[in-house]
Amino acid sequence: MKWGSELGKIGWGITGAGHLLQETFGVMEKLARTHSVSCFISSAGERVVHIYGLQQKLSEICPGNYYQEVILETEQGAAFPLAGRFLRKTYDALIVSPASANTVAKIIAGITDTLVTNAIAQAEKGGVPIIIVPSDQIGIKKTRLPYVINREICLKCEACSIIALCPYEAIVLSDRLPKIDLTKCEGCGICLRKCPHGAVTFGQRVRVTPRKIDIENVKKMRKNKNYVVLNSPKKIPKTLNKVL
Ligand SMILES: Cc1cc2nc3c(=O)[nH]c(=O)nc-3n(C[C@H](O)[C@H](O)[C@H](O)COP(=O)(O)O)c2cc1C
Repeated sequence: MKWGSELGKIGWGITGAGHLLQETFGVMEKLARTHSVSCFISSAGERVVHIYGLQQKLSEICPGNYYQEVILETEQGAAFPLAGRFLRKTYDALIVSPASANTVAKIIAGITDTLVTNAIAQAEKGGVPIIIVPSDQIGIKKTRLPYVINREICLKCEACSIIALCPYEAIVLSDRLPKIDLTKCEGCGICLRKCPHGAVTFGQRVRVTPRKIDIENVKKMRKNKNYVVLNSPKKIPKTLNKVL
């Protein structure tokens, strides 16, 4: 294990994909014991991290020191100056996990108009190793939903208690049915614990079929020698050892 200034320095791109996000945080947490991790988070990524209630974990992994920062797209303006660190080789590697279908499509098209796609472009120019875990790729059959109200269990109580209990006013009535507004949800889980009928679920597994275009984009990405493309965040630590 390396210590102090000897710590391996990782720049970690997080995009707005819920799929593989919790698994990614598990791996990031472990790697943060032996490496310093700075997170570069897209605007959508910031929202999704909140929806899945991972803000606390994020601040433990990146407590704010120079190489352990949270860098938000929403605070980086239009030109993403801190993405330039990859050109200057501030980090030993860039990991992007999970990489949303949107981010993968932009990389393939050469578009760099988000913090994470720009970080990838700068890392390529600077010769920094890049590891990418796309959320939408061949073999993905199921994904986990965030907080959802199950319509089959919800009794449509006249005075729905979780509307009043949500500290973020994220539960609203729509056609007289309570609905979770994911633009406000902070993933605290109070609704799940407090609904007297157990109508709120978290992490429910649902079937998904990845789109053909996303599978094609990942295939194209695998052919580019600048990227190491993985199908699971669990493979990141071994791969990182190989590329560093
Ligand atoms: C709760 C939630 C989960 C999402 N999960 C995914 C996902 O697994 N894969 C994906 O490609 N997009 C997902 N999206 C949509 C992306 O956030 C959206 O495409 C966004 O534009 C991605 O922007 P980015 O690539 O700059 O992060 C999700 C959105 C929400 C609200």
